[in-house]
Amino acid sequence: MSAAMCAFILTLSSALGPTVVSGVLAAPTHVRLTSYDMNLVLMWDSPEGPASSIVYTTEYKSSVSDSFDKVGCVNISNLECDLTAIFQYGKYTGRVRAQSGTESSAWMKSNQITLDKDTVISSPDVSLSSSGAAIEVSIKDPVFMISALREVYHSATYNITYWQHGQREKARSKSNIQQNRVILSDLDPWTKYCVQVQIIIVGRNPSKPSAAVCDSTTRAEEAPWVAAVVTFGIVAMAVALVVVAVLYRKHISHFLCPKVALPQHFKEYLLAPPNSYMYLAMRNSHPPDEIYNQVSVIADGRTREEPLDSCSKQPDAT
Ligand SMILES: *[C@@H]1O[C@H](CO)[C@@H](O)[C@H](O)[C@H]1NC(C)=O
Ligand SMILES: *[C@@H]1O[C@H](CO)[C@@H](O)[C@H](O)[C@H]1NC(C)=O
Repeated sequence: MSAAMCAFILTLSSALGPTVVSGVLAAPTHVRLTSYDMNLVLMWDSPEGPASSIVYTTEYKSSVSDSFDKVGCVNISNLECDLTAIFQYGKYTGRVRAQSGTESSAWMKSNQITLDKDTVISSPDVSLSSSGAAIEVSIKDPVFMISALREVYHSATYNITYWQHGQREKARSKSNIQQNRVILSDLDPWTKYCVQVQIIIVGRNPSKPSAAVCDSTTRAEEAPWVAAVVTFGIVAMAVALVVVAVLYRKHISHFLCPKVALPQHFKEYLLAPPNSYMYLAMRNSHPPDEIYNQVSVIADGRTREEPLDSCSKQPDAT
């Protein structure tokens, strides 16, 4: 191998970083500090090349300290370490090194994360309940590993996007919503709508949008005044009927019970005891003994054989 070639390889090696040059143990690669819902996790890939029984040790620091003064995980074999801090704000950096037996790799630093600014906020949980031609949207904030969304971001608001199923391009949205129960009332009856919610925070990325959830409206509810007018109308009619009934009770009773008597032979026919076998059998049979709860029957004052012509005052003999 020529000297030039050797020089070239050396240059290339140093350009590729200390891991190649050090020659001891290759360092972990692709080291990154990630944060979802205010957690803090350091992740990395295993070093290139064959290596057995590698363990990793991590450390991290906040921006105010010069050195990596906080120990994360020690001698772990998996490729991530949960460093979820008890501090909400601040910048953090992590580092990791590999160890195998007595050999150690160099430390590999991660990116820096500003927790409240960079943490990825999951989508809110959205549920719908339709009532008539309106749909109520209930929103639940994602659960944070430390603190709560509303404590970290006082300015968080919801952006509610909704559209008729299949017409996403005509979506409407309500933004700057602070309450977590919202009624969408400008909807058509008997129509399926889909809703998606995103948490908007001034000065940083919004949350992931929720999955679209859909529900159908039913019939349009009458406006309250319509119900009031209808109720008033019914009450007024009832009162009028009672007044008329009281004022004209004589006329009404004459109308219902005309003086005209039924022809005598017709009356006799109607009042003759029935002679069907079935009827007689039913009348004369004794009911079988059965266990019943006692039931009180309040007679309405009319026996079976009472005249059909209930207006006539004299009781007919049975
Ligand atoms: C981690 O492993 C190294 C050797 O690989 C050992 O010297 C050290 O004591 C271990 N530390 C802990 C906390 O187990
Ligand atoms: C709300 O979401 C809709 C649809 O994604 C978008 O067009 C609109 O700009 C958003 N509004 C705000 C205030 O973010």
